Amino acid sequence: MLRILPLFVLLFLLSFCSMKKQSAEAVSSADVPADYTKYCASCHGASAEVFVKRDWKYGTSRLDFIRGIKEGYPLAGMQGYAGLLSDEQILDLAKYLVTTRERLRNQQAVVEDPKPQTFVSEGVTYRLDTVARDLESPWGMAFLPDGDLIFTEKAGTIWRQKPDGTRSQVTGAPAVMSQGQGGLLDVELHPKFAENKLIYFTYSKPQPGGDSKMSATTVMRARLEGNQLTDIRDIFTALPFVATQYHFGSRMEFGRDGYLYVTVGERGKQDEFPQVLDKAHGKVHRITDNGDIPSDNPFFNQPGAVQSIWSYGHRNPQGLAFSPATGDLWEHEHGPRGGDELNVVQPGKNYGWPVVSYGTHYDGRSFTDKTAVEGIESPVTYWVPSIAPCGMAFVTGDRYPAWKGNLLVGSLSFRFVNRCVLDGRKVVKQENLFNDVGRVRAIAMGSDGYIYFSVENPGYIFRVVPVK
Ligand code: HEC
Repeated sequence: MLRILPLFVLLFLLSFCSMKKQSAEAVSSADVPADYTKYCASCHGASAEVFVKRDWKYGTSRLDFIRGIKEGYPLAGMQGYAGLLSDEQILDLAKYLVTTRERLRNQQAVVEDPKPQTFVSEGVTYRLDTVARDLESPWGMAFLPDGDLIFTEKAGTIWRQKPDGTRSQVTGAPAVMSQGQGGLLDVELHPKFAENKLIYFTYSKPQPGGDSKMSATTVMRARLEGNQLTDIRDIFTALPFVATQYHFGSRMEFGRDGYLYVTVGERGKQDEFPQVLDKAHGKVHRITDNGDIPSDNPFFNQPGAVQSIWSYGHRNPQGLAFSPATGDLWEHEHGPRGGDELNVVQPGKNYGWPVVSYGTHYDGRSFTDKTAVEGIESPVTYWVPSIAPCGMAFVTGDRYPAWKGNLLVGSLSFRFVNRCVLDGRKVVKQENLFNDVGRVRAIAMGSDGYIYFSVENPGYIFRVVPVK
């Protein structure tokens, strides 16, 4: 007995050590979801499950993930985390992605269409009808006077869908640089479309004859005859061409003045573009319906300035809408981590990026502690954490009396439609509608008076119907 006692002690000690080791591992992996939330969620979505449902481009092994997290994908818009996270944190994140992906893949067989959702707001019940499914990323929508819906898919396709749901492809789409956030983006009708059939598209145009990686946010104008685009012409290109594949901005709206307003993101060149007037990036532009420049633009007479600039200091504006009540131009833009902004855009004004922001770098470092500076416009409101806003529309018409005049803002990362109740230029109340419906890309009022919005990956278009 005495002789085997030391063996027991040894075994006991050994098992104790291995327990310690296990619990140490357990502690560090318990931090992984927190690391994910802190460093990754702002771009990839609030839960790792969302991130994992994607068409993988760079491989799905643990090694692929480790390399990706360390080095990032700078052209696509993800920086590397090598300096910021320890090797152990990176390994844990990679393992976390591998296991989450495995788990989800096993479930995927039973994942079906999103359930028809209902939502009660201001005492009214709303239902979502599915208008289109099996899409990739439906980026822009416009309703023709006859009720047909024109929508773009980011990879480069234009569709015309009738109210009965039948859909045909529109020919004449531009060749796009379809990488990262680039592709075929917004669509807008001329205010006199019924007479002149003019339609406008924004897209990331590859540099002609140049390096295929270089691209620029561009507005193409055409005539829509049935399912055909004719008379095709690019009327605006945000120069210079740039190699990064993100922050194209790219929303368009016609104003009451008959001019076309176009947003352009800063293409990830925050220190070079948004604060200077001789580059077109990080700006809202104002042009005529054929691409000329109105002579009352704020920098029209300033030597060296890009004459189409209407406002500057923007980051990545993907929401634009004129208030039907006041005529104000509302714009929203993605902030860095936190600090997404809702602005009322005025001519010649500076909206501050990157001098002023409520957000931080994606890695958590702050790049400015300034939130207000003389000569820089403050946002109407801002979102921390980021909702990743995309798409925006005012609720008009008579179908939604409880929401009339409200501003609807899509959220990519939180997967809802945000409803802002406005009083003049103030947001007095916010509500999140249709939680977890998908990454919301575009919102538009239909010619039938219903609200439509699209979500991506997987892509759907929904109609919001009030039910008695
Ligand atoms: C600033 C936004 C941003 C942040 C923050 C971010 N990523 Fe990314 N990530 C991207 C972009 C953009 C891509 C490239 C997508 C593409 O090329 O289609 C990407 C790609 C990836 C890929 C490769 C996906 C594929 O398709 O193969 C992995 C893995 C990944 N990220 C993991 C992470 C992890 C883990 C974190 C947190 C440590 C993180 N990312 C933080 C923007 C971000």
